[in-house]
Amino acid sequence: MRTELTYDAPLLELNTFGIQAKARMLLTYDSEASLREALSDIHLHHSDLPMLHIGCGSNLLFLGDYPGIVLRSAIRGIRLLCETPSEVLVEVGAGEVCDDFIAQSIRSGWYGMENLSLIPGQVGAAAVQNIGAYGVEVCDVIHEVKGISLSDGSERIWKRDECGYGYRQSIFKSELWGKYAITRVTFRLSKHFTPMLQYGGLRNVLGQLASDSPQGESPQALGALQLRQAIISIRRAKLPDPKEQGNAGSFFKNPVVGKEVAERLLAEWPEMPHYPAGEGKVKLAAGWLIEQAGWKGRSLGPAAVHDRQALVLVNKGGATGSDIQRLCDAIRKDVGLRFGISLEPEVNFI
Ligand code: EPU
Repeated sequence: MRTELTYDAPLLELNTFGIQAKARMLLTYDSEASLREALSDIHLHHSDLPMLHIGCGSNLLFLGDYPGIVLRSAIRGIRLLCETPSEVLVEVGAGEVCDDFIAQSIRSGWYGMENLSLIPGQVGAAAVQNIGAYGVEVCDVIHEVKGISLSDGSERIWKRDECGYGYRQSIFKSELWGKYAITRVTFRLSKHFTPMLQYGGLRNVLGQLASDSPQGESPQALGALQLRQAIISIRRAKLPDPKEQGNAGSFFKNPVVGKEVAERLLAEWPEMPHYPAGEGKVKLAAGWLIEQAGWKGRSLGPAAVHDRQALVLVNKGGATGSDIQRLCDAIRKDVGLRFGISLEPEVNFI
């Protein structure tokens, strides 16, 4: 395959919510050259159509059919660019599955991404969303990001500091949204395993796993594999598997509020989870707010709030994007009325 173009393409398999939608065209490319070629063709023959670049569709909600061209990267490849006694720079194709790369990096003795294990999605999308879990964000290990302009095919490279990374935020999600296709991401990984265990609950799970370690691994590799296994079991216990029940992971971002707002809420709900979020800011747990508002496990038609993690909305079967949106609106309204907090979706509505 170089490029593959499908008209009137079903998107069911390309969004983890399992929404039945179609794209006017779906274009999959496997190299920078084939993307450039396809873009020139698009500019000649379909310049009126909008473009949407997707990864595994694990952070998307299709509200209807997409009237334009959906682009999808199949750029593969994991290339060791350079190595010092302490770290490596590894360039990874944007179309690689992120979790497969994490598994392979641990096998290669490259550490730093263990806590991101099992997050669905491709490497390119991970760099766009700044995926994060259990105290680690992918920007912590990104060295640089390469992309190709969708308007003129030129290549651009962003050093990590130029990517505008913040909590679930990047320049690719804001100013540059829709303007570039991310083609490759270079990671800076450590050759020494330093477990990141500050997330409550991780130490306990690791302790339980310590007894049944496989034989013959170096202590470092063993530690990283155990941590990966612990993360995977925590995720499996709390989060629904999109293959079994459509969902897009956390539907909302955790709200970041001023200290005064947090203090006002804590006076009334002293048990409310809260975390420091830099310069007078506090991060609240959207899942807790939604649960307190009475939505955990509740349904609205074929859309529901997951019963083990209220931050996750699920498709019980046959839901449309509008069904999920209706549930989202109802939750936002109730959380707003009860706590005076405005929840922002993490998922992109298309
Ligand atoms: N909580 C509740 N009820 C719930 C869910 C959570 O009371 O239904 C409370 C928990 O008891 C805990 C706090 O809220 O005190 C935080 O919950 P948790 O540790 O499960 O994490 P989270 O803040 O709900 C975030 C990420 C997840 C990530 C976990 C672990 C966001 C939007 N979500 O969830 O990311 O896996 O932390 O690091 O930041 C994703 O983005 O798709 C995702 C799953």
